[in-house]
Amino acid sequence: MPETQFMPQTQSQTLAEKIRSRNARVGIVGLGYVGLPLAVEFAKAGFTVTGIDVSAEKVRRVNAGDSYVGDIPSAILAPLVEAGKLRATTDFGVVRELDTVNICVPTPLRKTKDPDMSYIVSACQEIALGFHAGLLVILESTTYPGTTDELVLPMLAKSGLAVGSDFFLCFSPERVDPGNPNYHTANIPKVVGGCTAACTEMGRLFYAQALEHVVPVNGTQVAEMVKLLENTFRMINIGLANEMALMCDRMRINVWEVIDAAATKPFGFMPFYPGPGLGGHCIPIDPFYLSWKTRQAGIEARFIELAGFINGQMPQFVVDKVQSALNEAAKPVKGSRIHVMGVAYKRDIEDMRESPALDVMLLLQRRGAILTYSDPYVPKIRVDGLDLTACPQEAAAAADCTVIVTDHTAFDYPALVARASLIVDTRNALKGVNSAKIVRL
Ligand SMILES: NC(=O)c1ccc[n+]([C@@H]2O[C@H](COP(=O)([O-])OP(=O)(O)OC[C@H]3O[C@@H](n4cnc5c(N)ncnc54)[C@H](O)[C@@H]3O)[C@@H](O)[C@H]2O)c1
Repeated sequence: MPETQFMPQTQSQTLAEKIRSRNARVGIVGLGYVGLPLAVEFAKAGFTVTGIDVSAEKVRRVNAGDSYVGDIPSAILAPLVEAGKLRATTDFGVVRELDTVNICVPTPLRKTKDPDMSYIVSACQEIALGFHAGLLVILESTTYPGTTDELVLPMLAKSGLAVGSDFFLCFSPERVDPGNPNYHTANIPKVVGGCTAACTEMGRLFYAQALEHVVPVNGTQVAEMVKLLENTFRMINIGLANEMALMCDRMRINVWEVIDAAATKPFGFMPFYPGPGLGGHCIPIDPFYLSWKTRQAGIEARFIELAGFINGQMPQFVVDKVQSALNEAAKPVKGSRIHVMGVAYKRDIEDMRESPALDVMLLLQRRGAILTYSDPYVPKIRVDGLDLTACPQEAAAAADCTVIVTDHTAFDYPALVARASLIVDTRNALKGVNSAKIVRL
């Protein structure tokens, strides 16, 4: 027999074989908008997946096959749970039995706009307790460049195991776009970069089993920076569109028509649109992870700060629009009934995180408006200063002014135009409709 047959397998060979044969036991830490779809994709690809979350309620719902993420119908989740391919737990003890762990926990900002790394740190502390040779760990939470190498690696390397040979560590940015009917976890190209070349290769091999296209890059910092470039690009271009809207407003030019006409250029232009302000867990937050890190390196991220300033003005601009529209009708905001259409941060989803609708509503309330709202995805709003229950869009008929903040496709826009007395449209939802009662951003 050839001598090589008696050589012990390396951790790398053993893990690669488990991944290729889909016998690797996959763990996903954090079962939210990112983690649950990822868990489902790997379960669909034939892996046995264990989701770990600190929320007992989410764990209970996953195990009941009851999805709470819009893009994952329960009809997809439930059969995977029933077949034993996917289960959830609050117990990190399962890490001892896992071969791979993806970390998909939140990365919010502190009030000071500094990164809040507490979720990543807490997840890694728990993972470290069950850490063992042969494990592949991939951080997916959006974060500043350097997090994987400078924060996560030292916590795992305390085990005495060597990265790249005993265990494997990567960063892979999540690019999921909730509510997007064309792109979802499986068909969005997956960028992955590891602490070593062997880590990158293990990460590539892992994702290639369940996702359509994997893009390996050299190192974790490149992968971390990819995500920040993408979201900063978006934030700054939205900032430019919003500044255009402010300028066009002053000059009485229809900004929507300008952007649509510019977008007919077949090269060198990509349309971005103005709106009531930024929302969601990514675009308003991620660029500040980058500016925080670059400040430490002595570089001020000026585009980011400027776009943040302009985007931050938009809720106030919307309220000023409402005020001047009501003034035309000789009504003050104080005591006026104002109906807000759409409060989720974007069209056709239920996510309220950082939604600009909340700022618009709080500002209107502060000026004495009497508020109502409709949103088919958000039955109640309970946040500091707002305690409201959704009503049917017919409530717009009784309002002095209706503000379209989020342009859900479920709204009946022709009926709205027929019944409302005054409409401030912050999304160009009423594109092509000519009526003196419509005021556009
Ligand atoms: N939502 C998006 O569209 C999106 C897109 C791309 C990237 N991201 C990034 O992905 C990450 C996750 O975002 P999300 O939208 O899925 O967040 P989410 O709040 O929907 O889900 C995070 C989950 O992690 C759980 N969790 C918190 N701390 C934990 C811990 N210590 N251990 C185990 N579970 C824990 C929470 O209970 C929650 O279920 C963030 O960094 C975010 O910036 C989000």
